[in-house]
Amino acid sequence: MLVNAKEMLDKARAGKYAVGQFNINNLEWTKAVLLTAQELNSPVILGVSEGAGKYMCGFETVAAMVAAMDKSLGITVPVALHLDHGTYEGCYKAIKAGFTSIMFDGSHFPIDENVAKTTELTNAAHGLGLSIEAEVGAIGGEEDGVIGRGECADPEECARIAVLGVDFLAAGIGNIHGVYPDNWEGLSFETLDSINKKMLECVGEIPLVLHGGTGIHDDQITMAISLGVAKINVNTECQLVFADATRGYIEAGKDKQGKGFDPRKLLAPGFEAIKAKVKEKMELFGSVGKA
Ligand code: 13P
Repeated sequence: MLVNAKEMLDKARAGKYAVGQFNINNLEWTKAVLLTAQELNSPVILGVSEGAGKYMCGFETVAAMVAAMDKSLGITVPVALHLDHGTYEGCYKAIKAGFTSIMFDGSHFPIDENVAKTTELTNAAHGLGLSIEAEVGAIGGEEDGVIGRGECADPEECARIAVLGVDFLAAGIGNIHGVYPDNWEGLSFETLDSINKKMLECVGEIPLVLHGGTGIHDDQITMAISLGVAKINVNTECQLVFADATRGYIEAGKDKQGKGFDPRKLLAPGFEAIKAKVKEKMELFGSVGKA
């Protein structure tokens, strides 16, 4: 059931669990995530970056595929189709294509420009019943060219964006996209705590978003959820298990046995690996049975 992400994330925040955003890349990915959410009776967010959207022939193709698949697979759990790290122009394209939720990433703009663009896009999204995520600019985490920790957002800047009425907020707390370097210092719970307190003062319990979900230790995920994180984005981990499972199939020579080269067989181990990873994450995030 395609919906915007507001209600599922407000419920998650109140119930102290998180909904996973799993980025999709193609039909197999989408089907694997949707079927797992349905099997586990969990809400889910399908994330689509601008690059992945382009790869899949544009947002209209993605929106049509997701809507049709949602119907043909008989998916009854809440599913949001969400633009991940959208540009200003990309947000309008996703809205027009029929996405149910957008993220405007204005974090690289000066805060005044981020505020202006987020205000406009929030009105546009809400006017059409979509939910919107915004991202807040940050303090650098780089030292001598080595990134020991991702950026940490300024709670005051978070407040300036949150009061605009965005539905959920991504704020850096030391997280980074992709595989974490060996010297990663972990999440900054001090920053998360300050942001959460600031949010409670100015807008109340707004769901916070943790990007870069790949490779964060389980205990840190649990702690982040207890401090207000209600949406966790996972992308790289699904790509890694898909690649590993596909490599295993080919290295075992299975594509050379009988009709093992049939894409439906060749892609099956990767498909099952994504399903298993999504299940593991939904169990960890606590969203199982929460649809
Ligand atoms: P990972 O690729 O590190 O899991 O991050 C995903 C993400 O945050 C997408 O916005």
